[in-house]
Amino acid sequence: MKLCIDDANLEKIKRIYEYYPIDGVSTNPTILSKYGRNPYELLKDIRDVIGEDKELFVQVTGETADIMVEEAHRIIQELGSSTLVKVPCVPEGFKAMKELKNEQIRFIGTAVYTPMQGYIAAKAGAEYIAPYVNRIDNLGFDGVQASKDIHDIIQKAGFTYSGLLAASFKNVYQVLELAKYGVKAVTVSPDIIEAFAGSHEITSAVAQFSHDFASLVGENKTMADC
Ligand code: G3P
Repeated sequence: MKLCIDDANLEKIKRIYEYYPIDGVSTNPTILSKYGRNPYELLKDIRDVIGEDKELFVQVTGETADIMVEEAHRIIQELGSSTLVKVPCVPEGFKAMKELKNEQIRFIGTAVYTPMQGYIAAKAGAEYIAPYVNRIDNLGFDGVQASKDIHDIIQKAGFTYSGLLAASFKNVYQVLELAKYGVKAVTVSPDIIEAFAGSHEITSAVAQFSHDFASLVGENKTMADC
């Protein structure tokens, strides 16, 4: 399963990218709006941190298919061919997807709240589908189950180029459930990624190892110099 960072905070992206095996960074207009910078300036800084080859996900904001396609051209021109255009799964978005597919521009269907939105986007050629797990939970439905349903639909329909980039996680358990299910990718906030291995029990177990080893070979010694 690919693991992406769902944020545009440069400092957090640098830290997560340095410590963890990360496949890309996803953004949306709300995430970009938090930083008060020109979107392309900020996105280019993110591109510099992650390099040319990692996937960067950037959303279109237009209300018509024509504008979305125009935005897609600019996004790819500014940020490179390993950038994927996030297209909302609404009728104008589906229309835009058909044109992007014709032009062989890579795209992802986003703002997915129902399995059938995911089905249409996959059928239209989306490389990824982004169900919003926690937002679906907050509507009183089951975001993990909706994501599994989309995964199953994609598999059973044989849309081999498509898979999930599940998004909108609010806890590690939601991510774990989809990891166990074998989804293609998830995009997760830096804080939740840090929480994968961030419990008190884990850090105190490692501290105990250091303490015990020091009692054997002395303080500040390691397996490199004992
Ligand atoms: O990028 C889409 C998604 O991750 C939204 O997350 O936290 O706004 O529900 P959130």
